[in-house]
Amino acid sequence: MRNIVKWGLMGALLVLPFAVGVQAGDHAYVGAKKCKMCHKVQYNSWMNTKHAKATEVAKAGTKDRKFEASCLKCHATNSDEAMAGVQCEMCHGPGADYKKMSVMKDLEKAKANGLQVASQETCNGCHTGEGHSKKVVFKDQIKNKEAIHEFKNADLAKSMSGM
Ligand code: HEC
Ligand code: HEC
Ligand code: HEC
Ligand code: HEC
Repeated sequence: MRNIVKWGLMGALLVLPFAVGVQAGDHAYVGAKKCKMCHKVQYNSWMNTKHAKATEVAKAGTKDRKFEASCLKCHATNSDEAMAGVQCEMCHGPGADYKKMSVMKDLEKAKANGLQVASQETCNGCHTGEGHSKKVVFKDQIKNKEAIHEFKNADLAKSMSGM
């Protein structure tokens, strides 16, 4: 009995890194317009975040920082200049396989098809703390409309920021 529990635990530990690390590569990106259809509140609010303008800002550059393709890793979606801005899918995972209503309405199914729940780790991917990219504290940004869109479920912001 003991051993079964032990091995069960080890199994869970072994599987975890893969579950957490499921990578974008498995699923294709579709672009924010496809999400807008069903998530207008979030889309319209996202348009007013700094993330929506991240590509323009990088292309304008600064005196000592000229635009080049490598900027797009953090200043666009899927490093693709044609997918301008840090769009939905950079925080929620590439949507080709979860955007269908039959999948979307079932959270577990959506996750199995690439939906990611945004967390501190999501932000760390770009807000690395290196160079001009400052670190951000996820919990503190939940209600910052320049960072994250408004939620349709108004109580979510409260619960996520722990207030
Ligand atoms: C055909 C309609 C439809 C499309 C298109 C769609 N969604 Fe959804 N989505 C839903 C429904 C329905 C739910 C579950 C109920 C709700 O939150 O409204 C949902 C839930 C979600 C959730 C909340 C999951 C949770 O934690 O409970 C996220 C995040 C999300 N969608 C992101 C996206 C993104 C990003 C896209 C574009 C790639 C997208 N959706 C496209 C219908 C859609
Ligand atoms: C590792 C991710 C990352 C890369 C790569 C990156 N940026 Fe940024 N950039 C950020 C983040 C995050 C911010 C938000 C600023 C902050 O943290 O306060 C930002 C902000 C900016 C800003 C506006 C604020 C400022 O500092 O003036 C400009 C302009 C900018 N980046 C240009 C560029 C250019 C040009 C490149 C390519 C040479 C580039 N970035 C590459 C992550 C990155
Ligand atoms: C900078 C990261 C970020 C971007 C970009 C982003 N979201 Fe979100 N979104 C979040 C976070 C954080 C939550 C709360 C945790 C979660 O459900 O993942 C959330 C929650 C949601 C929810 C469910 C909660 C609710 O009540 O609204 C939907 C639906 C959603 N986002 C859709 C979108 C769509 C559509 C876009 C693009 C137009 C988008 N998001 C862009 C971070 C982001
Ligand atoms: C794909 C890369 C990427 C991801 C993922 C990302 N960001 Fe950003 N974020 C940026 C870039 C690039 C900017 C700068 C945009 C600009 O200045 O126009 C930025 C800007 C911001 C700003 C405004 C900073 C300022 O100086 O005004 C905040 C706050 C922020 N992000 C928070 C978050 C949070 C919280 C998350 C995680 C939920 C997140 N970001 C995820 C790339 C990213």
